[in-house]
Amino acid sequence: DGDKSSDVVWHQASVSHEERVSGNGHKPAVLWFTGLSGSGKSTVANAVDKMLHDLSCKTYVLDGDNVRHGLNGDLSFTDTDRIENIRRIGEVSKLFVDAGLLVCTAFISPFIVDREMVRKQLAEGQFVEVFIDTPLAVCEQRDPKGLYKKARTGEIKNFTGIDSAYEAPENAEIVVKTADLSIEECAQQVVQYLKKQQYI
Ligand code: PPS
Repeated sequence: DGDKSSDVVWHQASVSHEERVSGNGHKPAVLWFTGLSGSGKSTVANAVDKMLHDLSCKTYVLDGDNVRHGLNGDLSFTDTDRIENIRRIGEVSKLFVDAGLLVCTAFISPFIVDREMVRKQLAEGQFVEVFIDTPLAVCEQRDPKGLYKKARTGEIKNFTGIDSAYEAPENAEIVVKTADLSIEECAQQVVQYLKKQQYI
């Protein structure tokens, strides 16, 4: 009937989620980093990952540049493909959370509705939005990959912040100002939140 999933039966796991995560010593969650290109998402996410790992947490990082080479290698930067990019990352994050991990995702994820969709797919408290709030001017000044320069000359189309939208979070759990703090301080801010909220 064209419904690809109609004959697929969900297999009940023999190890429950509770059994799987008990003993980890921390709650599972996705730390969803969002921000402009060059804002510092990957850098801060990787610093948080290292700190959490050193605290004996089970962690993983999903990063835009890496995932777009593999799983999402078929996707471009049109709005439609960015939406599909985030949908797939959301599904993958959910699997990591089910496995009991603290997973850091570092994607521009420019649209509020898509981020809220991922939040809704997870249980209460399992989605922690981390807004890497770096002004466009600072990102453009950094221009680590020379992409803003290319976007300004029109060599790259649909570039976030230039000719493609970025919708800043309105109620992010954590707002990080990379222009004012060191990488270490930014990462500490995230880890402090997790301690205060008793994730770790
Ligand atoms: S999105 O919007 O969430 O689907 O983007 P994401 O998967 O995070 O990929 C962003 C990285 O891809 C590079 N890149 C672009 N970014 C934005 N717009 C356009 N048109 C574009 N083309 C390539 C860029 O290096 C982004 O990396 P970061 O780490 O964000 O700078």
